[in-house]
Amino acid sequence: MSIEQTLSIIKPDGIEKNVIGECFQRFEKGGLKIVATKMIHMDRAKAEGFYAVHKERPFFNSLVEFMTRGPVVVSVLEGENAIAKNREIMGATDPAKADAGTIRKDFASNIEENTVHGSDGPETAKFEISYFFEKNEIFS
Ligand code: CMP
Repeated sequence: MSIEQTLSIIKPDGIEKNVIGECFQRFEKGGLKIVATKMIHMDRAKAEGFYAVHKERPFFNSLVEFMTRGPVVVSVLEGENAIAKNREIMGATDPAKADAGTIRKDFASNIEENTVHGSDGPETAKFEISYFFEKNEIFS
C-alpha cells in the first residue's frame, strides 16, 4: 500500500448531466481526497496533447471534439493506491462492461462519453497531473 496521486477528469457529459457532486462524493466515500480541482474548457490543442497517446486511433478526432464541446472538472485525487481505487470507482471504459455501482455504469452514455477519466498508472498520473496543475495548486 502506498499513498498515490491520480488525475481525474469529469468529462463534458458529466457536467451536462449535473453529476459533479455525485462523482466527488464517490471519490471521497472511496477514501480519496480531492487535493486540487478546477473547471476548465479545453481548446483543441490542449485536448489533443492530453490524448496524444491515442492519436492513431480511429476515435481520436471524435474524442477531441467531445472533450472540447464544454467544460470539464480536473482534479487531483490522493489516497492509498489512489490510481487503482479511482479506476475501481469509475468502472470499465465501456459502461456496458462496467460493474454495478460504478460511475460509468450509473452515468456514462457509451464508450466515448464515459463521464470520467482516471490515470492508468504512476507515470501517466505524473504526466497528467503536471499537464493541468502547477505544484503550488496541489494541497496534499
Ligand atoms: P479515457 O479513460 O479518458 O481514455 C481514452 C478515452 O477514449 C476513453 O476514456 C474514452 O472516452 C475514449 N475511447 C476509448 N475507446 C473508445 C472507442 N472504442 N470508441 C470511442 N471512444 C473511445
